[in-house]
Amino acid sequence: MSGPRLASLAGRPVTIGGLGSYLPGRVLTNEDLAAVLNTSDAWITQRTGIKQRRVAESGASSSDLGIAAARAALSDSGLSPDEIGLVITATISPDRIMPATASRVAYECGCTNAGACDVSAGCTGFVYALSMAAGMVAAGLHDHVLVVGAEVISRVLDWEDRSTAVLFGDGAGAVVVSPVPEAVMTGGRGSGGILGFDLGSDGSGEEILMIPAGGSRLPASCATVEARQHYMQMNGREVYKFAVQVVARSAGRVLEKCGLSVSDVDLFVPHQANLRIIEKAIKKLGIHEDRVYTNLEKYGNTSCASIPLCLTEARAEGRLKNGDLVLLMGFGAGLSWGACLLEWGCGRGAVDERG
Ligand code: ACO
Repeated sequence: MSGPRLASLAGRPVTIGGLGSYLPGRVLTNEDLAAVLNTSDAWITQRTGIKQRRVAESGASSSDLGIAAARAALSDSGLSPDEIGLVITATISPDRIMPATASRVAYECGCTNAGACDVSAGCTGFVYALSMAAGMVAAGLHDHVLVVGAEVISRVLDWEDRSTAVLFGDGAGAVVVSPVPEAVMTGGRGSGGILGFDLGSDGSGEEILMIPAGGSRLPASCATVEARQHYMQMNGREVYKFAVQVVARSAGRVLEKCGLSVSDVDLFVPHQANLRIIEKAIKKLGIHEDRVYTNLEKYGNTSCASIPLCLTEARAEGRLKNGDLVLLMGFGAGLSWGACLLEWGCGRGAVDERG
């Protein structure tokens, strides 16, 4: 592609200046699940594409995984923790309802000058948190914001419900959002930078995917525990229908906002919910599978961690080069969705490479 990019994000140019992830060591395969649930490797593989997932050690919470990912992203950015102005944690499995998981992440990472808060937007949480970070850095409210997607979903899953237990996994990923360094700010391809977002929500679908109890709407009681209402409940068919249509629509919108088309996209990184959703959605969107990143066969659906986990692996595999146009797409409970378009150019390596 050639010509100037029409950035829809106003203010100073911002980029992902550091990236990191963390995965617990314990692997749970489809065969392991088939030994304890009425399911099979064939059913899970055919319906979802998932072969295995990671599960956190007992006692490890979302903040523990998030801290490890955040430290890796900070180190990748070359910043010292006290340069971070805000830590945002996106999660559907927070340590507690109160306080924010981000407060512990900030404290343990040594972000002594940072505010901290959580974002709750289902599996779209990472894209929402990224949009807030990008807007704040672009506007000059902060110079550097740490965005962490961290999940120990295994604690909010009903392990007796085969329709949800087979889908999810634990993990964490983090990015540091910073101004584009002046050394690389050429204004053309290779500058790196976040170009724009499309965010949406449809609360009419709140009951399609939820943890019914434990909040103010249905407080914890013996009855809610007995009815297993503190675990995730999902209408899989409705989620499937919603996800397939929203991915193409929202991805199309952010491309249009930025004056680009799907043929310009070098790498599409969708939320890793289910391979069948991704296959159907990319057909609708009109992007070839060679330009789509997936790793859900290894990790399952890690909710808010899935996109930064993909970015970390894609970069390690050489599938993310400076100047590549990258399209991120989140969707999940709410219902909620969010697309982000960015030109890759990440971390100290990006500056060094371009001299
Ligand atoms: N193993 C074996 N059989 C199963 C399993 C399982 N793990 N789970 C359900 N079944 C059975 C059902 O009981 C049902 O049996 P029945 O016909 O005897 O009643 C049969 O399989 C078909 O069930 P469906 O729910 O209709 O199966 P479907 O083909 O819709 O596939 C799935 C289910 C994979 C969950 C699908 O609906 C889907 O992909 N939905 C999207 C789910 C998703 O990705 N959610 C998360 C996204 S949002 C977020 O990330 C938070």
